[in-house]
Amino acid sequence: MNFTFDETQLMIRETARNFAEAELRPNVGERDELEEFPYEAVKKMGELGFMGMKVSEKYGGAGLDELCYVLAIEEISKVDASAGVIMSVNNSLVCFGLEKWGTEEQKQKYLVPLAQGKMLGAFALSEPEAGSDATNQQTMARRDGNFYYLNGTKNFITNGSNADVVLVMAQTDKTKGSHGISTFIVEKNFPGFSVAKKEKKLGIRSSDTVSLAFSDCKVSVENRIGEEGFGFKFAMKTLDGGRVGIASQAIGIAMAALEESVKYSKQRKAFGKFLAEHQAIQFKIADMAMKIEAAQLLTLSAAATGFDDPKYGFKSAQAKLYASKISVECALEAIQIHGGYGFIKEYPVERLLRDAKITEIYEGTSEVQRIVISRYLLK
Ligand code: CAA
Repeated sequence: MNFTFDETQLMIRETARNFAEAELRPNVGERDELEEFPYEAVKKMGELGFMGMKVSEKYGGAGLDELCYVLAIEEISKVDASAGVIMSVNNSLVCFGLEKWGTEEQKQKYLVPLAQGKMLGAFALSEPEAGSDATNQQTMARRDGNFYYLNGTKNFITNGSNADVVLVMAQTDKTKGSHGISTFIVEKNFPGFSVAKKEKKLGIRSSDTVSLAFSDCKVSVENRIGEEGFGFKFAMKTLDGGRVGIASQAIGIAMAALEESVKYSKQRKAFGKFLAEHQAIQFKIADMAMKIEAAQLLTLSAAATGFDDPKYGFKSAQAKLYASKISVECALEAIQIHGGYGFIKEYPVERLLRDAKITEIYEGTSEVQRIVISRYLLK
């Protein structure tokens, strides 16, 4: 497989890098500390085409390929992993599914502004008792004429309090198990919809994570995506792509850990020489670089495979599993290289570890990725 990037891909990576340095770097630590959503930066990401990267130009997107998407998320997450996940959810979990399975009317009404960054989207699958066990949906959607009435609670919803539009999975026929789940487009102003508890988190603290409550939330039939019962497959297929986004986010964090470690080891002296001159540090740096490149190759390979290939879900799970694992490892090593300074907020590496950990949990834990991978191999 050849991963020589073409001019467009290199240009996108450069644009994302410059944007992240100019717009995200200056206050990233402060936003983390204050749990402050990066409103201005997200608006600018929309103007640059980063919120609907793969969406066709016809629907307001940038019409770019998945490799561009991977490179952009890496660069954004290298500086600010919270901005990385905000972008990843809007692109992978919201715009993708709308473009693939939405009606023309849904695309005009929702996809165009979402892809342009004029609206923000969220994806609501998780519930208090349906995390990894996603088929166990308790949110109900009862049909009455041309409307559904949604009742239930979703939790851990990224972008939830800032989203204009939420894609909600709910049971339309509980007797059918995973085949009785459907997907609905819910606008933030729909009666019966409200944002509930905001979570206080270990990492990615400037992205919002909330519970959403539905109390006879009235949604028209036109806002259902696909047929009744398509919701679980919709969610799983969407998450296959989402995992490439999270793998890229994890790699961005690992790249930052390596960069900070290289910088610090050239500045700090111990036992009469720079850390960089100690073999113990050199070995750590070498291992970090090797792991990052391996994760990048897995992620680019998944991205290049493309959604229509039956191997896509398997490959995206492999990429996400490995990238998230090495992201945590690299962040831990960066702290070790920094010694006591790695443990305090004066240096960014403690934030990198806090941000890296969630990549092993959301969009399917590492255990879920292993289920997806082994099922593909053993089926
Ligand atoms: N594509 C298409 N169909 C799929 C599929 C896929 N990738 N995965 C499963 N399905 C289908 C199956 O074929 C099956 O259909 P049939 O009955 O017709 O054969 C049906 O869906 C049920 O599948 P399973 O029997 O495999 O279901 P399961 O209960 O064993 O669960 C699982 C499988 C992989 C563990 C799944 O539940 C899962 O992925 N869980 C994790 C959910 C998750 O990632 N949640 C994250 C929430 S979003 C988030 O985190 C966003 C954020 O904040 C950033």
